[in-house]
Amino acid sequence: MSVKFIGYIGFNNGSETQSAVRSRALDKDYVEAAAKAQEKGGFDRVLIPFGSNSPESQIVAAHAAAITSTLGFLVAHRPGFTQPTVAARQLATLDQLSGGRVAVHIITGGADAEMARDGDTRSVKAERYARTDEYLTILRQEWTAAQPFDHQGKFYDVKQAFSAVKPDNLPVFFGGSSPEAIDVAGRHADVYALWGETLESVQDSVRQVRRSAARYGRNPGFSLSLRPVIADTEEAAWKRAAEIEEQVRENRTAAGLPLTDHRPANAGSLRLLETASANRQDKRLWTGVAALTGAAGNSTGLVGTPEQVADAMLDYVDIGIDHFLIRGFDPLADSILYGRELLPIVRRKVAERTQADLALAG
Ligand SMILES: Cc1cc2nc3c(=O)[nH]c(=O)nc-3n(C[C@H](O)[C@H](O)[C@H](O)COP(=O)(O)O)c2cc1C
Repeated sequence: MSVKFIGYIGFNNGSETQSAVRSRALDKDYVEAAAKAQEKGGFDRVLIPFGSNSPESQIVAAHAAAITSTLGFLVAHRPGFTQPTVAARQLATLDQLSGGRVAVHIITGGADAEMARDGDTRSVKAERYARTDEYLTILRQEWTAAQPFDHQGKFYDVKQAFSAVKPDNLPVFFGGSSPEAIDVAGRHADVYALWGETLESVQDSVRQVRRSAARYGRNPGFSLSLRPVIADTEEAAWKRAAEIEEQVRENRTAAGLPLTDHRPANAGSLRLLETASANRQDKRLWTGVAALTGAAGNSTGLVGTPEQVADAMLDYVDIGIDHFLIRGFDPLADSILYGRELLPIVRRKVAERTQADLALAG
C-alpha cells in the first residue's frame, strides 16, 4: 500500500478567500517559493493547472524543475490546440531535462466558452472526448515507437511520425466525470483524478473506471483532490472552516457573484454540487466552499486535527485512492503546514497498515 501526495502551484498565492475571481497572474517569487516549500515538505508532485487565460503550465513546470531536484510535476494539458506529436515531444523534452520528474494531467475541457477562448468554437464535449482518445493514442505512440509510424483518424492524420526524444516513464493522469470520460479514462489513464466527493460516490467512480479499464486490461491508480483544514483541536478546525466560508461569501457578494443556483458545465462539478447538498458529509467532509462557488474545481475539504484528517484519508485509501491532491486557502502557508503536520502522519499510518497486513499474511 503506498500513498502519494500531490501539491499545487497555482501561479500566485491567491485563493477564494483573497478574491472572488480567481487570478491567473504569474508571480515568479511565489512559484519558486511554492516549489521549494513543497519539495522540502515531502510532496511527491505538484499540479500546475491550465486554463484558457493562464500562464503555460509546461513552462512554469520547466522553471520550477530547474530550481528543484526531486519534486515531481503534474502538468495540466488540454488536447485540441497543439498537435499530439508536438505535445508528446514537448512533454518528453521537459521530462528528460527534469530527470524523469514529469506526469501529464489530461483535461478535456467541460465548458464550451473556455474552449472558444483558445479558438475551439465548434466542438462539443462528447466529441472532445473522442478527440482526446485519439490524441492520447498518438501521444503514446510518439513516446514509444521505435520506427516512424502513420496514423489516420477522425481528428488527426500523421505520416512517418517519429520522436528522437522519449520520456523515461511519463504517467498520464486523467480528469473528467462525463460518461464519455470514463471510457477514455479506462483506455488511457494511469491515474484517474477526481474531486472530493463522499466515500460512497468516490467508490462508485472507482468501480466505474476500474470496470472500464478492465476492458483494456488496465489497472489505473486514483487521485482524490481535497482542501484539508487542520488545527490543534477539532473545534478550532471547524471554526477555521466557518471563517473561510464567511470570507468566500463576503468576497462573492461584494463581486456580485451568485451564492446559489449554480449551473456548472462540467459533470465533475455537478457531482461535487450534489455532494454539497449538505455542509458536512461522512465523518468530516466539508462542502461549504463548493456550495458557494458552484464547485468549479477542488473545493471540498476534510476538517479536523491532523490525526483526524489522516484517519479520514485512510478511509478513502480503503476504497482505492492512492494519490491525494491537496491545497489550502492560504496556498503557500498551508502547503508548508501540510508538509509538517499532515503528510508524516498519513505516511506513518499507511506504513503501520502495511506492517499489520504483512503480519496478518504471516
Ligand atoms: C484533479 C483535477 C484537476 C483539474 N485541473 C483542471 C485544470 O487545470 N484546468 C481545467 O480547465 N480543468 C481542470 N479539471 C477539470 C476537468 O478536466 C474537466 O472537468 C473536464 O475536462 C470536463 O469534465 P466533465 O467530463 O466532468 O464534464 C481538473 C479536474 C480534476 C479532477
